[in-house]
Amino acid sequence: MSSLVLTGATVLTMNDALDVLEGPVVVRDGVIAQVGGRAPDGVPSIDLSGCVILPGFVQTHIHLCQTLFRGAADDLALLAWLRQRVWPMEAAHDEASLRVSTRLAVHELLRTGTTSVLTMETVHGTDVVLDTLASSGLRATVGKCLMDRDDAAPARLKQPVATAIDEALQLRAAYDGAGTGRIRVALAPRFAVSCTRELLEATAAVSTTHGMLVHTHASEQRDEIEVVRAIAGMGNLAYLADTGLATPRLCAAHCVWVDEAEQALLAERDVKVMHCPGSNLKLGSGLAPVTEMRARGITVSLGADGAACNNRLDMFDEMRLAATLQAVRLGPGALPARDVVWMATRAGATTLGLADAIGQVTPGFRADLVAVDVSGPLTAPSSDPYSTVVYASRGTDVRLTMVDGEVLVRDGVHQRVDAQALGHEARAEARRLMRRAGL
Ligand code: GUN
Ligand code: FE
Repeated sequence: MSSLVLTGATVLTMNDALDVLEGPVVVRDGVIAQVGGRAPDGVPSIDLSGCVILPGFVQTHIHLCQTLFRGAADDLALLAWLRQRVWPMEAAHDEASLRVSTRLAVHELLRTGTTSVLTMETVHGTDVVLDTLASSGLRATVGKCLMDRDDAAPARLKQPVATAIDEALQLRAAYDGAGTGRIRVALAPRFAVSCTRELLEATAAVSTTHGMLVHTHASEQRDEIEVVRAIAGMGNLAYLADTGLATPRLCAAHCVWVDEAEQALLAERDVKVMHCPGSNLKLGSGLAPVTEMRARGITVSLGADGAACNNRLDMFDEMRLAATLQAVRLGPGALPARDVVWMATRAGATTLGLADAIGQVTPGFRADLVAVDVSGPLTAPSSDPYSTVVYASRGTDVRLTMVDGEVLVRDGVHQRVDAQALGHEARAEARRLMRRAGL
């Protein structure tokens, strides 16, 4: 049995009562054993005085494979961004570039307090991403991208429906439950622009048979919705519903342009929405009706999307932007800091189907925790911890990140990664990839 006590911090439990308390957090065999009370004697401890402990952040929309494209696809709107830059770069990935892209993402995520992700990878090489993740310590639900249409997509990224579905199921057979249960496999039809009706219907059928999550993009930009209307003769969400995809297992990134009827559909079918404010700003997508969707009871969680459209993977940026964008839309207070922390933890856990395992600092839950140093002058005087975490803190204030009880970041340093060397390796691989892509 391995035990550890984290002492001296203020704990944002994010339990149902939203208890905030001072006291130890005891971790035993990867599980939270005790919160508050008296620390047991004779157990190794880490002093986290001056820190706020909260559940590790859950980012529900990310593309690890795009981390190597950081800064290589700026200043374009969605469809041009995909067709001119991102798809050619994805098509140029090989094993080495996918591995380093994944490692680069994992380092940044853990360093800035994210302990779980839902990630959409590219069409090929997702086994490499899964292998890399299994030994990384991060918790991840991973889908290989499913694509079979769009004239402007590289041929290498378009697969026959049967091939795409077979490969996704092979990944599930090989990796679901890997990394001592941290790794799970999902289905990831990219979006209705790049998938035929046959592919969407096949995905829905497989999701129903195997209970797999479906990770997609929906209604991010108005051009995209027009393309879908031309293909399907109906609105984007109506189309997804028509193909059988609109179930509680559907995780739909963005939903920026959703009208009242579409919001009602999302709520009625319990479709999960992933809000990506940093990406929505940089791609010029728009301001999502997050406050309204939450008011309807829709589970709305957060993600950075990818380094090709953000260009950071830091949940602190997404939290601050989520709150401030709703203030611009509807007035200050439209999305309070405490609700944003809920989105970053509890809503993420619900989206992944892991609401009874992660997202709370509660005995019996997995020990996925983050400690944020709020003792410095840049966050002083920080009277309300929710306000501090959402508005004043930044990812580099994370002092400790733990997944399944394992301390992966300590004193702000990733314990398993030579970050400097990783940066060098990533730059070299990115240059090779850009040459292969002819960009
Ligand atoms: N829509 C289809 N593919 C993508 C992608 O990779 N990123 C974003 N932001 N939107 C998409
Ligand atoms: Fe995306």
